[in-house]
Amino acid sequence: MSATPRPTVFVTRGIPLRAAELLREHVDLRVWGQERNMMPDEIRQAVPGIHGLLVHPPTRVDKAILDAAGPQLKVVGTMSVGLDHIDLRECASRKIAVGYTPDVLTDATAELTVALTLSTCRRFKEAFDAVVNGGWGTWDNAQYLCGKEVKSSVIGIVGMGRIGFATAQRLKAFKPSRILYSGKHPKVYATELDAEYVTFEDLLRESDFVIVCLSVNSGNIGLFNADTFKKMKKSAIFINTSRGVVVNQNDLYEALKLGQIYAAGLDVTTPEPLPLDSPLLTLPNVIITPHIGSATERARSAMAELTVKNILAGLKGEPLPSPVHV
Ligand code: DGY
Repeated sequence: MSATPRPTVFVTRGIPLRAAELLREHVDLRVWGQERNMMPDEIRQAVPGIHGLLVHPPTRVDKAILDAAGPQLKVVGTMSVGLDHIDLRECASRKIAVGYTPDVLTDATAELTVALTLSTCRRFKEAFDAVVNGGWGTWDNAQYLCGKEVKSSVIGIVGMGRIGFATAQRLKAFKPSRILYSGKHPKVYATELDAEYVTFEDLLRESDFVIVCLSVNSGNIGLFNADTFKKMKKSAIFINTSRGVVVNQNDLYEALKLGQIYAAGLDVTTPEPLPLDSPLLTLPNVIITPHIGSATERARSAMAELTVKNILAGLKGEPLPSPVHV
């Protein structure tokens, strides 16, 4: 009697060992072995015949990839909360289940957002450079590397979802004067922080820190552009840990260079990795981290395990533990 063949799952990047072992117990695993994102033609070549796809942003899952995979593909599990790299409608029309990893990365991403906020307002990039390059100044100049404080400032959170709220919770400990937020609807849970629901325009005008925690949709691509930067205070600090596409990067560069805003801290860019000749890298008042919002050992292990559970459930035709509802 021949045994039922094991399903095949393709993984677009390495995953923590425990999750890989869990997957290997049940499926034939194929893993992209290189330390870089897959190009679209590479993923098209890798997926024919697979039953499950474990993907990491920014690797795109679109019609061409799904066509290349074939009709036996049952489930896509993304190791992310962001879904902008997946054509959800196309998956839904083919009855391919999609799972993602909200919640388990909220704390890690909020901590990174706070870290970026503090390191930008306290000019860490210039400070680190000064130590290494012999520019360590003295108290002779009382203004040497002076930055700004969160205390008594107005914090504006654009997108008070899970990560926005967790960020605001943490920043509240720094005693800002107000916390504002904008979005489609006021959030009941935001009252716990005395956060004020305001229009996007008011948030831009009044905030000392504009902190972007949005999830991307077709309506917010390029939302931060020359117009929006002009509406911000000259002293405003712009933080983005959402996705690079919500920002027009050329406009951000101009705004920073011309002093229309004070500084920026970005964990996400377009493209990723950011090319080394990006003009943003020439500015002293920009701190950029390489999309490490969820990069803690705890969060990444939890994300990988949840993704594996999503995939195993999808392969069996069972409800996913963390499904995306289209
Ligand atoms: C997410 O989960 O969307 C993160 O941005 C990926 O690290």
